[in-house]
Amino acid sequence: MIDFTLTDEQEALRDLVREFATREIAPVAPKLDEEQRHGEEIVEKYFEIGFLHYAVPEEYGGAGLGTLEGCLFNEEVGAACGGVACTLGGNTLGLTPLFIAGSDELKKELLPPHTEGPNLAAFCLTEAGAGSDAGSMRTTARLEGDEYVINGTKGFITNGSVASLYSVFAMEDPDAGNRGFSAFMVPAGTPGIKIGKKEDKMGQRTSDTREVSFEEVRIPARYRLGEGLDGFKIAMMTLDESRATVGAAAVGIARAALEVATKYAKERVQFGKPIAGHQAIQFMLADMAMKVNAGRHLCWHAAWLKDTGKGNTMESAMAKCFCGDIAMEVTTNAVQVLGGYGYMKDYPVEKYMRDAKLHQIYEGTNEIQRLVIARGLLG
Ligand code: CAA
Repeated sequence: MIDFTLTDEQEALRDLVREFATREIAPVAPKLDEEQRHGEEIVEKYFEIGFLHYAVPEEYGGAGLGTLEGCLFNEEVGAACGGVACTLGGNTLGLTPLFIAGSDELKKELLPPHTEGPNLAAFCLTEAGAGSDAGSMRTTARLEGDEYVINGTKGFITNGSVASLYSVFAMEDPDAGNRGFSAFMVPAGTPGIKIGKKEDKMGQRTSDTREVSFEEVRIPARYRLGEGLDGFKIAMMTLDESRATVGAAAVGIARAALEVATKYAKERVQFGKPIAGHQAIQFMLADMAMKVNAGRHLCWHAAWLKDTGKGNTMESAMAKCFCGDIAMEVTTNAVQVLGGYGYMKDYPVEKYMRDAKLHQIYEGTNEIQRLVIARGLLG
């Protein structure tokens, strides 16, 4: 039987995050966007209400919640500010390799200090020359005694300068391509980590995006995740988990745009009646609402597959791709409904449109998602 009813607990948690996002994030989002700040005060407050480490298992100090809850929270935060959703979601993304492949001892060592405070993690996979083709990375790791030494530069790293823990992917056997790299946990503050300048982005300016370089960075050998050279699989499994929740943040942006457009259409009078009375606008709003709902259901389905232990590679790619695309379309149409006012910074829809664009690019471009979906279909 199919049941779309959330549990009482899920509804209560969602309502708490909605209330928090409406009160603490949405009012400051335009200023943070202008100043290009990630809003550490928001991170602190999100930690205080107990949601920052929602995905960390309870035995390591987190709330032990699932991917579906992640979708609920991300939609609410995304509706308030797409960039803040990226900052907060980047923490879960950065920790997920450790959840997937870390030993119990390593989780006990690294997670409780992280979950004790408003700490953020960062996922360091991408490089200047290795974006979609993640397997062509140049960052290396070599074993010296009981330490690994990491060298290389990662790019477009969310939470780059504000993370206290990095998951880093590096080649151990450069001749083996994507079968030759490993995943490592690297605490910030380890000598040799260099933080680059903040990227000046079109949208999601409320997330901190940087280059992070590793120059002869030495970490204990036990900070390597997994057994063999399975870093690529750990990265792919991490992205399978995160893409549903990233899609949900895009749904949040689209939902917010729809809400603003609907309200405006009821108030704005042209040709003697509110523009909502014109069928051209009604059809646009109807299409926007359809897409928001469809996107949410794709995310929930991909999350449900994950939370019930089923494979979700194709479905999470569908969720991420579809929601990124509809967020772009819905926000663009919201700007259209508001006309000239929509193009001005006095209304929030131009920010929604700028923030939505990144959803077609990060966590794997939507072209890569279509590739993953086609591979799922064709085998
Ligand atoms: N789960 C487990 N294993 C997987 C997997 C998955 N989802 N996908 C692939 N694998 C395995 C394959 O089975 C294969 O295993 P074997 O070696 O045993 O045969 C191995 O990994 C290699 O797989 P492929 O041959 O499919 O690899 P590929 O080189 O053709 O690339 C790709 C596949 C889908 C294009 C992949 O490179 C990809 O997803 N690229 C996009 C990278 C990406 O999403 N980057 C985003 C960075 S994070 C970010 O943006 C976050 C942020 O800061 C906001």
